[in-house]
Amino acid sequence: MKDKLIIFDTTLRDGEQSPGASMTKDEKLRIAKALEKMRVDIIEAGFPIASPGDFEAVKAVAELVTESTVCGLARALDKDIDRAAEALKPANSSRIHTFLATSPIHMREKLRMEPDQVVEQAVHAVKRARNYTDNVEFSPEDAGRSEFEFLCRVIEATIDAGATTINIPDTVGYNLPQFFGELIGNLIENIPNSDKAVFSVHCHNDLGLAVGNSLAAVINGARQVECTINGLGERAGNAALEEVVMTVRTRRDIFSCDTELDTTQIMHCSRLVSTITGFPVQPNKAIVGANAFAHESGIHQDGVLKSRETYEIMRAEDVGWNANRMVLGKHSGRNAFRSRLEELGIKFEKEEDLNAAFARFKDLADKKHEIFDDDLQALVSDTLQEGADEWIKLVSIKASIETGEKPKAEITLSINGEEKRACAEGGGPVDATFKAIESMIESGCDLQLYSVNNITTGTDSQGEVTVRIDKDGRIVNGLGADTDIVTASAKAYISALNKVFSESERAHPQV
Ligand code: KIV
Ligand code: ZN
Repeated sequence: MKDKLIIFDTTLRDGEQSPGASMTKDEKLRIAKALEKMRVDIIEAGFPIASPGDFEAVKAVAELVTESTVCGLARALDKDIDRAAEALKPANSSRIHTFLATSPIHMREKLRMEPDQVVEQAVHAVKRARNYTDNVEFSPEDAGRSEFEFLCRVIEATIDAGATTINIPDTVGYNLPQFFGELIGNLIENIPNSDKAVFSVHCHNDLGLAVGNSLAAVINGARQVECTINGLGERAGNAALEEVVMTVRTRRDIFSCDTELDTTQIMHCSRLVSTITGFPVQPNKAIVGANAFAHESGIHQDGVLKSRETYEIMRAEDVGWNANRMVLGKHSGRNAFRSRLEELGIKFEKEEDLNAAFARFKDLADKKHEIFDDDLQALVSDTLQEGADEWIKLVSIKASIETGEKPKAEITLSINGEEKRACAEGGGPVDATFKAIESMIESGCDLQLYSVNNITTGTDSQGEVTVRIDKDGRIVNGLGADTDIVTASAKAYISALNKVFSESERAHPQV
């Protein structure tokens, strides 16, 4: 019998800390549902004290998810812990995750606290969280740069205070697998009450070692890994869930533990997170990249045809490749549409949103014969975005190109309910479109990223455009999908503008 390796997904919390990856409540709910379906053990849904929107999102996830434990992050402060507990009240099973830095540099420069005070505050925080739930996780932040003796002292005290999970974060991604593995083994061996808690790790990827460090920790006794879909997260990101899970599963000969995940859901989760956040997955990314199972060289192709194991160590279908079924077409009815969405974990709260999505679906089916799951995901994102209270809406667009002429765009927007029209010329039709929009909005934003991806294959595929803009240091992504990429670009730019002006200030947990 193998031990269980607990998978703690923090896509909705640490993942959301990536600049531009902030998600709406509805988007978080869709991801949470997909994670639950994949049988993730714990979903860290957010940082409830950060803003009223974050609080509502954690609460909504707690209401929706019944199979996974829902977790909320809290600094080691009473107000944070009380707020997290309040957001988690509706959950079937909940966890409070509280943290305080223990490295010399963080204690001295950031917290301006003495080590004794840090121990006292950490113990107090764990006790306070235990008043609400018996499932409490404590993280000594920047453990990867903390002094071993002090780390042992804080951990022993917090386990005594009632922490049931001790999470060791390599907050700045500074560690190397061999030493990080040894650190975990030594902590478990030297802390007298270590058997009273599950040891967990949370590794950042600044040196590209997050997965390696996490796995070394598992080999040395960690039984929970904190990770994110596609490795999303603060700076260079966190350990990628799909890589951790598939390594443990594929190298059963090495690991004495395994997860209970339904790995066939991995591709779906990866695409969903990428669509919602606008962070594309690089083609050569392990497990979920477009080339992860593609064989280019003739020798490899020949080998795989004779016996798959010659060049493949995993089966593509085990991680959900090929599951992007052609589901619906022009003649599909509203009920078939609704039930396929439900199978994908998408349920509209309002009937009018379902109707709007169905109208779009019919529209799309006229232009494109086969509608795949990924088309449906993009269509739903678009519908929810437009249904939201947005002050800028696209009314119509006309763009033209002609050899020897300057590309032009003519755009009509509804701005706070009032229609405005503008024309502009540009280097190409997209450039002209953005210039026309900007001439009406005058946002003064910096365009940081513009990218187009095809959602499925074929020239009739929808193009999905991601636009990232920066307004006085606030960075947001906007997404738009359409079979016409100029329209998709206009939608993406408008979605980013709506977000950048509506997002309220949020507290960052680690600042
Ligand atoms: O990276 C980190 O240290 C964190 C903690 C809050 C666990 O995200
Ligand atoms: Zn982190």
